[in-house]
Amino acid sequence: MTKYPLFNSHLDLAKSYWKKLLKPNSIVIDATCGNGHDTLFLAEIVLRKGMLIAIDIQSEAILQTKFRIKAQIPPEIAQNVQYFNQCHSSFPAFIQEESVALIVYNLGYLPGANKDLTTEEGSTLKSLANALKLIAPGGALSVTCYPGHPAGKIEEAKVLEFASTFDPKVWNSSHTRFLNRNASPSLLIIQKLLPNNTLLGG
Ligand SMILES: C[S@@+](CC[C@H](N)C(=O)[O-])C[C@H]1O[C@@H](n2cnc3c(N)ncnc32)[C@H](O)[C@@H]1O
Repeated sequence: MTKYPLFNSHLDLAKSYWKKLLKPNSIVIDATCGNGHDTLFLAEIVLRKGMLIAIDIQSEAILQTKFRIKAQIPPEIAQNVQYFNQCHSSFPAFIQEESVALIVYNLGYLPGANKDLTTEEGSTLKSLANALKLIAPGGALSVTCYPGHPAGKIEEAKVLEFASTFDPKVWNSSHTRFLNRNASPSLLIIQKLLPNNTLLGG
């Protein structure tokens, strides 16, 4: 396993930002919970007082995530995770606008399952547009992209094109990729401005 002092992968880098941003009472959405690795990482930060919403279009992914949370998080805390087996192009209606500290997307397909069931540019872009409305001031979106497969390459290009259009007075979009690793995964972070004298919400 590679070992560099700051981060080894796009996901390491993403997690270091998540840790920096989140508070124990934050509301967080994992928009592609998959096998539940990211959900578990997020649960360990926010679940005592906050709320975690795990979404995946595949029922198998929801089951895997539930299983992982149940195995590793005490039941009285695990009850603060809510699961939604649906497309992330829309979010559960009870989530209020400007209330969510972080929405995480780990794009692509579920490792170990059908690779054709991958995130797609159309629903991903629709989801991102809806996600922007939910982000609290000082909150962020984290999107890991996988341009190593054909659909992932198109999806990354479209997502970056979209993120480049946001009003810089409110949003800060940045993209990190490895320059010396061919078609490697990359990380898009979209931060929402925290106006002066505002406490970090969500
Ligand atoms: C790379 S995996 C996520 C890995 C996961 N975060 C983990 O920690 O194990 C991508 C996931 O996105 C899900 N997905 C694909 N299209 C989706 C959609 N339109 N809405 C919600 N989830 C979707 C897939 O089912 C898959 O589980």
